[in-house]
Amino acid sequence: MNRPRIILYTGKGGVGKTSVAAATALRCADLGQRTIVLSTDPAHSLGDSFDLPLGPEPTPIVENLVGQEIDIYHQMERYWGKVQEWLSGVLAWRGVDDLIAEEASILPGMEEIASLLQIVHLHQSGDYDTIIVDCAPTGETLRLLSLPEMARWYLTRIFPVERKAAALAGPLLRSMTDLPIPDDEVFEAVKDLILQLDAMHYLLADSSCSSMRLVMNAEKMVIKEAQRTYTYLNLYGFATDAVICNRLMPTGADAYFAGWRETQEKYMRLIHQGFDPIPILTVPFFEQEVVGVAMLRRMAQALYGDEDPARIMFKGHTHTVEKANGCYRLNLSLPFVTREEIQLTRSGDELIIHIGNHKRNLILPRALTTLDVDEARYEGDRLIVTFACNGR
Ligand SMILES: Nc1ncnc2c1ncn2[C@@H]1O[C@H](COP(=O)(O)OP(=O)(O)OP(=O)(O)O)[C@@H](O)[C@H]1O
Ligand SMILES: [Mg+2]
Repeated sequence: MNRPRIILYTGKGGVGKTSVAAATALRCADLGQRTIVLSTDPAHSLGDSFDLPLGPEPTPIVENLVGQEIDIYHQMERYWGKVQEWLSGVLAWRGVDDLIAEEASILPGMEEIASLLQIVHLHQSGDYDTIIVDCAPTGETLRLLSLPEMARWYLTRIFPVERKAAALAGPLLRSMTDLPIPDDEVFEAVKDLILQLDAMHYLLADSSCSSMRLVMNAEKMVIKEAQRTYTYLNLYGFATDAVICNRLMPTGADAYFAGWRETQEKYMRLIHQGFDPIPILTVPFFEQEVVGVAMLRRMAQALYGDEDPARIMFKGHTHTVEKANGCYRLNLSLPFVTREEIQLTRSGDELIIHIGNHKRNLILPRALTTLDVDEARYEGDRLIVTFACNGR
């Protein structure tokens, strides 16, 4: 049996993530794949998109397709309940008001992570060929996908030490104060959570089954945010296999929109500079909302033509950052470019690369924004940019 294919759609608020995810899932189901589409966005709108009430249980939509709007409270209780109970106990002990302690014991991003964990469960169930995920609006939260590494760090370094200390001091402290000491149940819950996070990370970083797709519109700020997300996805080893530019003014439309079209064409070039050679799929601005199965099928047709949306559309990473001898090296794929003079321009966290007539444009990870560029050279079809070593 083939392993399930997992595709996550993310992008800035309102760009069309839910519509694109729903349209994709529908096409996969129409092609005979057992498909589930789920939304990790607490402000669920998948149901609105299909014009059907969806709930926390997988609900049939059409043949081969079910939809699920994850119950965030249930997921939080399941993965975070014990730890949260203990954390809010500690906060309350420090005099923090109960209600606030309860709120503060939820780590930022934990809610989205808890709902992403559902993917692992669905993957393991064997019930689906294709899992389509409509993510919460901010791509920034995807950075939290790197959490397992951090969490493991804590587990191995802090928890065992604390555990010993807690075991020793526990009875004594407990007899003197009512400080909540983490008990075995809390430690077990942390361990279990980390195992689950590891499984999720492993699954989503496996480019032979999982892909990220960035949804955007031809607008400057939207593109910049998508590039930033893309940089972090690359940094953490998640593969992006397509970008989607939604709501393009169709050609041949009203003269009234000609100005808009021109602006959008300009920004399409920016999308190419930021994402080539990743495939860029486009969707026109329809004359009506994308709601209901018929409109979603129209959107799927515009997106994929007769192709299978679940196909892996691009393999590899267009840029990676690695650390060698204490220095950061940016490794950028620039196929089809002849060796000509390379010109680098920096503006804030943006790096613009001119080579002959070509222009590439990327957002640097935060650690690199303050470092000077030492050298830029070609190796094969890749451009290697070495940054000055910090403090060396
Ligand atoms: N190509 C399109 N043509 C016309 N309307 C569209 C198009 N794409 C999306 N829409 C409409 O735009 C609205 C927002 O789309 P959607 O809900 O898919 O965005 P989103 O990125 O999921 O938003 P949010 O960040 O709020 O979750 C919806 O009413 C949808 O029907
Ligand atoms: Mg949405």
